[in-house]
Amino acid sequence: MNKQSKPLHLRPKDPKKTLMRLFGYFRYNKGLFFGGILFTILGTLAEVASNAMLSPIIDAFIERKDGRTLLGYFIIMGLFVIIIALGQYLGNLFMIKLSQKTVHRIREDMFSHMEKLPISYFDRHSHGDLMSTFTNDVDMLTQSLEQGISQLTISIITVVGTFAMMIYISPILTLLVAVMLLIMFGAIKYIGQKSAVNFRNQQAALADMNGYVEEIMSGQKVVKVFNYEKRAIDIFNRKNEELRKASTQASTYGTMLMPIMGNLSYVKYALVSMAGAFLVIKKVLSVGNIASFLQYTRSVSRPITMFSNQLNTLFAALAGAERIFNVLDEEVEIDQGDVTLVKHDDKGGYYWKVPKNNEEYEEIPLRGYITFKDVNFSYEEGKPVLKNINLHAKPGQKIAFVGSTGAGKTTITNLINRFYEINEGTILFDGIDIKRIRKYDLRSTMSIVLQDVHLFEGTIKDNIRYGRLDATDEEVMEAAKLANAHYFIKNLPQGYDTMLTADGMNLSQGERQLLSIARAAIADPTILILDEATSSVDTRTEKLIAEGMDKLMDGRTTFVIAHRLSTVRDADTIMVLEHGKIIERGNHEELMQLKGRYYELNTGAAELE
Ligand SMILES: Nc1ncnc2c1ncn2[C@@H]1O[C@H](COP(=O)(O)OP(=O)(O)OP(=O)(O)O)[C@@H](O)[C@H]1O
Ligand SMILES: [Mg+2]
Repeated sequence: MNKQSKPLHLRPKDPKKTLMRLFGYFRYNKGLFFGGILFTILGTLAEVASNAMLSPIIDAFIERKDGRTLLGYFIIMGLFVIIIALGQYLGNLFMIKLSQKTVHRIREDMFSHMEKLPISYFDRHSHGDLMSTFTNDVDMLTQSLEQGISQLTISIITVVGTFAMMIYISPILTLLVAVMLLIMFGAIKYIGQKSAVNFRNQQAALADMNGYVEEIMSGQKVVKVFNYEKRAIDIFNRKNEELRKASTQASTYGTMLMPIMGNLSYVKYALVSMAGAFLVIKKVLSVGNIASFLQYTRSVSRPITMFSNQLNTLFAALAGAERIFNVLDEEVEIDQGDVTLVKHDDKGGYYWKVPKNNEEYEEIPLRGYITFKDVNFSYEEGKPVLKNINLHAKPGQKIAFVGSTGAGKTTITNLINRFYEINEGTILFDGIDIKRIRKYDLRSTMSIVLQDVHLFEGTIKDNIRYGRLDATDEEVMEAAKLANAHYFIKNLPQGYDTMLTADGMNLSQGERQLLSIARAAIADPTILILDEATSSVDTRTEKLIAEGMDKLMDGRTTFVIAHRLSTVRDADTIMVLEHGKIIERGNHEELMQLKGRYYELNTGAAELE
């Protein structure tokens, strides 16, 4: 299995589409969105207008020396200041709420989508990448949303408003400013392009390093056992160095922009001042006009510099948003099942409800027949793992799979519960093609005890109840007793309420297996799949596990992948798998007489001991 990191280096393929999709999320909070924009516009307009006040104030003072008019202007100015502050404050507040709600929803969508993805998705993608999208990309998006929209609004309103006022004061000077702005734009565009590439490289390097740290962190035991530390450090150092280089480049271009823009701004200011002074001497404009105009000159470039400063972050956020949407667009498990499971208390038990033509239904009782017909399967195209598998299990029968490692035993069971879709052939459940059965209903009839037990953070009780969420405490205990887990649980300090750490590290292998048997038992499944753990436990625990499994198997169609002879001996049929093919089948006596592979495994090899 080769999990590869996603190619993070890619440019946002379609920034416009990503942006539109992002904006689509605002439809859930229209009030906040429009309210935020409205207040921001109000504050910005007030700011633009307040600059215009400079002109009459200065002229009233210099030319007319009129104190009363001056006081009136000051009061108006004060009002403007209040409107500006209020508008900006409320605008920001609304935008923060909007972005938090939006991101909250995106996270919700992502998680629920992740839960619908097929197992094969997780084979193809590293956990680190997915985690990084969940955390880094979402974080980045939050920041950009919080500031991006208001800044964009402020920029547009300021630029448009200011230009209008400038043209009103002096079209000629406005032309001069426009030429200077064009030059500045050119610079931004050039540097922006350079830094976007660098920034993406930086993000990719960061994700790469994070993924590595996570991988090594979760594999500490393996690292230590194999003395891999030095090599791990070397690899980490290399990735760290790559990140340093990428970040330095990204930041260099990022910080170049500010001084360049700043200097160009000064040049522009000086040019306008000179031209303005000339116009005042020629009596075309008043001193107040020039004061206002210069103020506008300054404020027209500020939003542009501000925006260009944000460009990096914006690019990164967009690329992140695209990765988020990529996860969301990932195809979910196909489920066209129209056969459902219904319960008829009067007739006793469950029935498959199979739709026929003309809205009629046929009801087939849930029994537990499983049939494989010429099944072929491969995880990756061109590498067949199972070849021409045929088998038939009757209700209550025990079918055992044996065979060397990698033969395809676990794979067969992965197909029964439809973790993966088969390439050819059919699998029938009570005579119904399992492709026709709704996955939820199919899986509700099955329990699996996986080869490697997975426990979740929570109490022992919660972990057993995972098998059936509405089970009562009594039923939990009942299941634990059946699984032979009750005894060890009782002896824990807090009994059934003992907290397990993530993955149950504070339990022994054997105890974890007993717990997983209890979990399977509580679901009271029709089909049971036991993938016996290869790890060995002490003989007493082994006996407990074997007994627990026996009780659990009673009366259910069971597929058991056995590594211990004791588990196999009493199976109705034993299938010997080799390289994805069933090479021998029969019960223990028959196979022993055959003196084939099974006989070899039993007498020679240690695998079944
Ligand atoms: N998710 C996967 N993606 C690609 N190949 C896989 C995947 N899982 C298993 N394989 C391959 O399929 C083959 C069969 O694997 P499987 O897990 O079924 O073996 P097994 O018989 O259960 O072995 P073991 O006794 O070690 O558990 C192996 O060659 C394995 O490398
Ligand atoms: Mg296996």
